[in-house]
Amino acid sequence: MKQIGLFILACIAAVSVYAQRASYNIIPLPKEVKVDTTQFFTLKGGQGIAYDESNAECTRIAQFLQGWVKEATGISLQLTAADKKAPVRLSLIAPAKKSKKSKQPVELTEQQKESYTMTVGKDGILISAYEPAGLFRAAQTLRKSLPIVKGQSVELPYVQITDQPRFSYRGVLLDCGRHFFSVEFIKQFLDAMALHGCNQFHWHLTEDQGWRFEVKAYPDLAKKGSVREKSIIASSKVRLYDNIPYGGYYTQDECRDIVRYAAERYINVVPEIDMPGHMQSALHVFPNLGCTGGPYPVATHWGVMREVLCGGNPETLNFLKTVFGELCDVFPSPYIHIGGDECPKERWKKCPKCQAKIKELGLTDDPKDTGEGGRGSQDGRSAENKLQTYINHEIEQFLASRGRSLIGWDEILAGGLTDNAIVMSWRGTKGGIAAAKQKHRVIMSPNVFSYIDHPQLKDLSKTPRTTDSYIVSCSKMYSFEPLVPEELTKEEGDCILGVQANLWTEHVAYPEHALFQLLPRLGAMSEVQWCNPEQKDFEDWKKRLPQLKKLYDKMGLVYCNEVE
Ligand code: ACM
Ligand code: ZN
Repeated sequence: MKQIGLFILACIAAVSVYAQRASYNIIPLPKEVKVDTTQFFTLKGGQGIAYDESNAECTRIAQFLQGWVKEATGISLQLTAADKKAPVRLSLIAPAKKSKKSKQPVELTEQQKESYTMTVGKDGILISAYEPAGLFRAAQTLRKSLPIVKGQSVELPYVQITDQPRFSYRGVLLDCGRHFFSVEFIKQFLDAMALHGCNQFHWHLTEDQGWRFEVKAYPDLAKKGSVREKSIIASSKVRLYDNIPYGGYYTQDECRDIVRYAAERYINVVPEIDMPGHMQSALHVFPNLGCTGGPYPVATHWGVMREVLCGGNPETLNFLKTVFGELCDVFPSPYIHIGGDECPKERWKKCPKCQAKIKELGLTDDPKDTGEGGRGSQDGRSAENKLQTYINHEIEQFLASRGRSLIGWDEILAGGLTDNAIVMSWRGTKGGIAAAKQKHRVIMSPNVFSYIDHPQLKDLSKTPRTTDSYIVSCSKMYSFEPLVPEELTKEEGDCILGVQANLWTEHVAYPEHALFQLLPRLGAMSEVQWCNPEQKDFEDWKKRLPQLKKLYDKMGLVYCNEVE
């Protein structure tokens, strides 16, 4: 009996060494997968990956793929020139023209630029795409399809995959203002994003509690504005602090390094300088830019601060244009985020400079003005909200002169949207819907579905710091549908560029914790961003998750093991 048992074990071991099997049940699910599980192509060590050596991007993608196959299976593939016969082939193809006679180049949509096909058949694995971005997404698909066990070969069922993302903007925000995260960690974060097909890294660089972006014109801004004296560790009736100075900022060279690293993974970096609220760290360095003149400490507790940039001081706009100018020098992103959220108007209402500016511009309260909403948000159209719109307008013009579009949080609707503003809707979807109805572009990031600073499990919501938190479980996040026909016509729906998950870090100080918050929720978010609604099925997603978790383990990514 014992011998039979040993024999069976030996067989299992032999099988696991020689014949691991790939599965295309990956996350996010490709658009179309036609699989034939009766026939297999065998991938083995020494086989080649053929690619266009004259193309630097194809070369890099081939190298990535070589590394990922090795990481997952231990199999070493060889890189070889495109004209050589090889079982793995990466090829760029020209999009078909509408008519043969047409001389016009074919204009691809953003989604088509990331589309690809992957065919596995008797000759091997053929990946084709119009652009390198598509080859990269395809290489990630192949990576995720591979079994994560060392063996000498992998059997890949014959398949025809045709894939393209649903949305062109698939973002994740990391708040590096409340807590500072190293360049090394941000690269790991970008690797995790790329694994999930995300293509926009929203880098929240400034906060009341810390200025993290080097501005050469103002050396003290990052040097002094990045350091708070202490941090709050608990608050009930009294606030308790740790009394440990906390700081850190990114040099422009480091930012450029991040931009390059992200671009190699087909991720655009959207930098955010949050203004005119959330600016207390800047006010610490330049108290003359506040309505009261200060002094202002770099904030040491969380929440919405009433100290904001003075909207009536001409120096404010000079300061902002200098900062956004350097931001444009460093970040090639077509989108620049100007924040705009949670700017209480308490100071502006009493400030002679702000009121003089309001008078000069002829701004008035609207009769339907409902005054200020909670948490420093502004509802209604008060003259002060319009003053914020005036600042936004100035910055929008400035950014346009640099060829960039402005993104702002949905509060920028309050005083009236500037001409080309893109709205990031965080207080639910209503701001996004209102903006789309005005034909503005929109990114949906509604807090109840996409705020991953919130707990993902019921049990975690009971910890003292998060008692008032709502839960953003994987299933909740997965259930988000940004295009509801009752809310938006087809034309309005076309204004929705995409969806974003936000990781705020008031209570997230360490890389491992940030990853725990992110994963596997990003897997759920990735299907909101990538898949069509008819493809989505949470129970099916859960069945596909264990394979992805094995890859998380392989990549050293911490994640939450429970899923609700
Ligand atoms: C935000 O969560 N204040 C954008
Ligand atoms: Zn003022």
